[in-house]
Amino acid sequence: MTAHTTSLKVGDQVVDLPVKEGTIGPAVVDIGKLYAQTGMFTYDPGFTSTAACESKITYIDGDEGVLLYRGYPIEQLAEHGDFLESCYLLLYGELPTPTQKHDFDYRVTRHTMVHEQMMRFFQGFRRDAHPMAVMVASVGAMSAFYHDSTDISDPYQRMVASMRMIAKMPTLAAMAYKYSIGQPFVYPKNDLDYTSNFLRMCFAVPCEEYKVNPVLSRALDRIFILHADHEQNASTSTVRLAGSSGANPFACIAAGIACLWGPAHGGANEAALQMLQEIGSVDNIPKYVAKAKDKNDPFRLMGFGHRVYKNYDPRAKIMQKTCHEVLNELGIKDDPLLDVAIELERIALSDPYFIEKKLYPNIDFYSGITLKAMGFPNDMFTVLFALARTVGWIGQWKEMIEDPGQRIGRPRQLYTGEPKRDYVPMAQRR
Ligand code: CMC
Repeated sequence: MTAHTTSLKVGDQVVDLPVKEGTIGPAVVDIGKLYAQTGMFTYDPGFTSTAACESKITYIDGDEGVLLYRGYPIEQLAEHGDFLESCYLLLYGELPTPTQKHDFDYRVTRHTMVHEQMMRFFQGFRRDAHPMAVMVASVGAMSAFYHDSTDISDPYQRMVASMRMIAKMPTLAAMAYKYSIGQPFVYPKNDLDYTSNFLRMCFAVPCEEYKVNPVLSRALDRIFILHADHEQNASTSTVRLAGSSGANPFACIAAGIACLWGPAHGGANEAALQMLQEIGSVDNIPKYVAKAKDKNDPFRLMGFGHRVYKNYDPRAKIMQKTCHEVLNELGIKDDPLLDVAIELERIALSDPYFIEKKLYPNIDFYSGITLKAMGFPNDMFTVLFALARTVGWIGQWKEMIEDPGQRIGRPRQLYTGEPKRDYVPMAQRR
């Protein structure tokens, strides 16, 4: 993979550094020996120019607005496949044959129940706990309930842990929701597909028949496909870093969920809807656009901008279409929030500030309106993101563990604190 070298002048010294080429995308300069050769580190807070690993799973071309899972465009996967097919693809590298798909669906379905004692674990939470807090805790707790699949050196246990997480995440997410509204937990029903089962666990009650709406189920399944992986984003890098120490996969995914929660990352879907609600009407948009452009105002347009995409986020386009489909199916003719979103997008995309900074709507811009229409409360949006991203986290974690060259992740720093100084006894301090 090392195609050639490049020279770097550091002070008076010139060092040759290997350049590695990927299959597509920018090449990287391998600086692994830079410190040994020059005594200097590189400095890149926020990792804007640093590739932290090699990966074969997901590719993004941010300038062109391209997203590929194992080489397949997200648009094609979202249109033709289902979420579990994308899960298989992300985990194993190829689209499944009909037999492989049937077997995979069967294995996931047979792991959907959670340990009965987890019900009691849930009772410890306050009813008003944020469901993301409940998810961080309950996924972390899985390492206590499923300790038999925490030996990461055993490929079989790694596979069982992966299946357990993909299968049980909808059950835990639905439990977090049911607990918050004081309704009884609904057990999984294994003759339903993955997403229909999740909808039923969220919205069925014991006293009534629940019929899954296939249009909504298909729409949510597509939303899950869009969120399934996104290469080395903050939460995935968190999972990799946590996993690099040999921590068990349940603990690593819990760390990923905690990171996802922040409003700059997965929490943006909740924040975007709150922002649309706060704007309230099309007349107020100019005021908020002005706030977003004001350097002295911390306000940002939530659901806008992305570290990698400097073009329309390809997921946002599919999400926008899905949003219209869902509102149509539910007979929602006039959603004032949708009017605000469409007009906000139009104004922002023609404003020089957003054009110059290449700020486009991202996946979170339309997802809140869609999920709200389906009946999910705001604080469940990021939980749904976590549910879908779990396969990406696991795929990336497995890739790292199975890499023979894997080492603990340990960034270095530029120290700007006090130099060495002697301890001053308490009595002498002024
Ligand atoms: N509204 C107004 N200005 C913005 C926005 C925004 N949403 N996003 C970036 N900018 C400006 C920012 O002020 C900066 O201006 P300047 O160069 O004059 O200082 C410039 O654009 C670059 O911003 P940055 O913060 O340096 O960019 P970043 O790559 O570090 O941050 C981001 C990316 C996604 C955190 C940021 O765009 C943001 O905060 N967006 C809103 C939150 C959001 O929607 N997040 C979801 C991301 S997609 C889902 C996911 O991956 O989880």
